[in-house]
Amino acid sequence: MTEELQTIVDLIRYGASRFNAAGLTFGHSYDNAIDEATQLTLHALHLPHDLSPVYGQSRVTLAEKEDVLGLFLRRIEERIPAAYLTGEAWFAGLSFKSDRRALVPRSPIAELILSGFEPWLGGREVRRALDLCTGSGCIAIAMAHHNPEWHVDGVDLSDEALSLAAENEARLEVRNTRFVKSDLFAGLQGEHYDLIVTNPPYVTDDETDALPREYGYEPEMGLRAGGDGLDLVLKILRDAPLHLTDEGLLICEVGESEQHLVKLLPELPLAWVEFQVGQMGVFVVERQDLVAHNARIAELAAARAPATAASSAATGSAAAGLF
Ligand SMILES: C[S@@+](CC[C@H](N)C(=O)[O-])C[C@H]1O[C@@H](n2cnc3c(N)ncnc32)[C@H](O)[C@@H]1O
Repeated sequence: MTEELQTIVDLIRYGASRFNAAGLTFGHSYDNAIDEATQLTLHALHLPHDLSPVYGQSRVTLAEKEDVLGLFLRRIEERIPAAYLTGEAWFAGLSFKSDRRALVPRSPIAELILSGFEPWLGGREVRRALDLCTGSGCIAIAMAHHNPEWHVDGVDLSDEALSLAAENEARLEVRNTRFVKSDLFAGLQGEHYDLIVTNPPYVTDDETDALPREYGYEPEMGLRAGGDGLDLVLKILRDAPLHLTDEGLLICEVGESEQHLVKLLPELPLAWVEFQVGQMGVFVVERQDLVAHNARIAELAAARAPATAASSAATGSAAAGLF
């Protein structure tokens, strides 16, 4: 059978067919079998991800074919996300190291970074920005890379994620980032930002339990977020005003938990971002609107699971009643 596979394109086509037949899930870097087969093939052949199609008809050696097919097999049998097999994920035009210490970078917020957060910033000057729940550091580092004049903090509670973020900071040679270990805002007392961007855990318990095997390789603390996916989001909405400058903006991804959030807080004016592919559950909100609705937000945040309430009390940063 393998004798019939001779060229790079043969291998990509074959991999894509096997992936589709095996019913793989493509929820990570790429959303289809052909792109994933291309990613794995080019990685195994030590070729650039943007290889010119002219080389598609190049023949491969037997040893190379074995390397490519070996990766295909692991992807199919073990269901490991392709980015963890290659150790690399592209985000906002940059190559990040990716492994099981943090989620594979895939947030639609990359598109906002590349568009300079316009029209949302509306020309507002940003001096300090925060990436809350930074994981691999992808959002913080991409913001810092594309805006060298900004000072960008990245925060996560996971030591593993922070070690990966530090490696990405070195890999991409950014000098205007700082990474801090913190339970949400707890370690940021007295810090103020013009822009807070966050892709926090927002998957409901039921959805987390039912996720395809690929997601089992990612740290659960990057995904699971309570019965309606909003345990962390509500705390972020409650405490963000303490860390935003007067004209500051919060940009937050909540994915499918958008429906729960809108039901809980119908009066909060959230602007849902329209991406090239449509809405992706990312909202923008002004500090002043968070302040105006703080009492209700704090009430909802306080009603969360005991562990959440306890850690919130420990932060001493709960903003309820301050406005
Ligand atoms: C959805 S992942 C996002 C990672 C990264 N920003 C991205 O877009 O790929 C959420 C991250 O939040 C972190 N996290 C979970 N609970 C946290 C908490 N209480 N405080 C700070 N970070 C937390 C997880 O470790 C994980 O890295």
